[in-house]
Amino acid sequence: MNNHNNQKTQPQTILVIDYGSQYTQIILRRLRESYIHSEIAYPSITLNEIVRKKYLGVILSGGPNSVDDNGAPQIPHGLLQSGIPILGICYGLQLIVHNEGGRVASGGKHEYGDATLIVPPSSPHTQAHPLLQGIPHESRVWMSHEDEAHTLPPHYRAIASTDNTTNAAIEHVSKPIYGIQFHCEVAHTEYGTLLLENFAKNICNAPQTWTPSNLVDTSVKQIRAESNGKKVLCGVSGGVDSTVAAALVHKAIGNNLTCMFIDNGLLREDEVANVQAMFRDVLKLELHTINAKDRFLNALAGITSPEEKRKIIGEMFIRVFEEHARKLGEFHYLVQGTLYSDVIESLASKEGVSQTIKSHHNVGGLPENMQFELIEPLRHLFKDEVRLLGKELAIPHNTLWRHPFPGPGLAVRILGAVDDESCRILRQVDKIFTEELHNANLYHQIWQALAVLLPVYTVGVMGDQRTYERVAVLRAVESTDAMTATWFHMPHKTLETLSNRIVNEVRGVNRVVYDISSKPPSTIEWE
Ligand code: XMP
Repeated sequence: MNNHNNQKTQPQTILVIDYGSQYTQIILRRLRESYIHSEIAYPSITLNEIVRKKYLGVILSGGPNSVDDNGAPQIPHGLLQSGIPILGICYGLQLIVHNEGGRVASGGKHEYGDATLIVPPSSPHTQAHPLLQGIPHESRVWMSHEDEAHTLPPHYRAIASTDNTTNAAIEHVSKPIYGIQFHCEVAHTEYGTLLLENFAKNICNAPQTWTPSNLVDTSVKQIRAESNGKKVLCGVSGGVDSTVAAALVHKAIGNNLTCMFIDNGLLREDEVANVQAMFRDVLKLELHTINAKDRFLNALAGITSPEEKRKIIGEMFIRVFEEHARKLGEFHYLVQGTLYSDVIESLASKEGVSQTIKSHHNVGGLPENMQFELIEPLRHLFKDEVRLLGKELAIPHNTLWRHPFPGPGLAVRILGAVDDESCRILRQVDKIFTEELHNANLYHQIWQALAVLLPVYTVGVMGDQRTYERVAVLRAVESTDAMTATWFHMPHKTLETLSNRIVNEVRGVNRVVYDISSKPPSTIEWE
């Protein structure tokens, strides 16, 4: 697939170089909360690239290394001499000191936790320091370091201290280079967001224009320019990302967009009708629904291996998509709902800085060898920004805040072989589960809730009759990014209602269990 490079209309951006800190993404979040756009890159980025992309300033993140370690990641060559504003955080500060001729050494003990930052008061005749503007004489900051700037390089001076660290914040006397030993990005640092905003606004002159309505306007312009009057195809799933992407592209190019929705027979109860109604009545968008239920279910018949199921579904999806795309006309572009977290993840694994824990088959994702160029209108956004954008585009709240649903659908929630009858049972269980979570006002406290049907029969008694039926599992988790999750402490009253309703209303289930496993060691889905 021909990946379209989205750097043509780069928003005015601060670059964050990731040296391996677990807080790097939070730096981006903090800046975006101040309506300032920022992006991540890795230490291999060159000064040429930084200049070419016209970044307004560069933040060097913290990281686990010591500057003297063999192979410790470095500052891009020439960056300190370039005149581009720089802020080093923790390891970032130490890199600056080390490279400019100062001495970084272990502070003797590991300083971890709260400290009081002391900012010298400005006199009535002097202006507050541009980086520290608005930060009071004493405030709480969060430290996590062993090494520190022991001796400052020539032309550098301290601008704030703590009891333990004289050089808690430093600056170059004439160049826009700053460093802080504490972590301004974590919530424990009282004025951390303000400090980042000061750097971006006062020192880098970054505009605070990263707002949902501006985002819609810029994205619309960008999509119009990119698609250049040609026809665009968008595969939708009814989930947040593809719906927002479709609405945005439609706003930009109107009827040049065609949306396609594949009913693979593995969707939730009423899903097809709901998605169709939303596209028709709310988004006012034509939707081509392809009924491919039999093809998917026939291909899955008798298959019990989770990986084999995923493979079959993925391939079938591609085949159906290709066939129908050809019937619908000539398309030059394909919309994908890629998010910034996907971009970071694939960059990080390319750079070898993070491990892929589990690779999901994205059934909404499309074949590598299709001759489309990609339009990825969400590739600069995090999930919650997509929701803000969706709100701006008047996408209903219920759609924006739905729980995630996996591409392979019910097939990975029906353990063992998938057939019509199992799909019917699981759809009914899932429907009752969702209804009762709404009734108990719990749906939005839970990150994801799902039901699983086990290929296990147990004995029960209903009326005076012996039953021998299947077991349904209910699972609900709290999470922020699905990488880790904890099981949700469901009130007993809700569990009782759920168990009663499911056993009484769903033919084929006589036992309900609640999953109390977290991730890790379990995963969210059972397959
Ligand atoms: P696991 O089971 O790996 O799931 O803990 C993490 C999150 O990803 C969803 N999931 C998928 N999403 N295609 C998707 O689009 C898939 O193949 C897939 N498998 C799991 C899962 O629902 C959870 O939100």
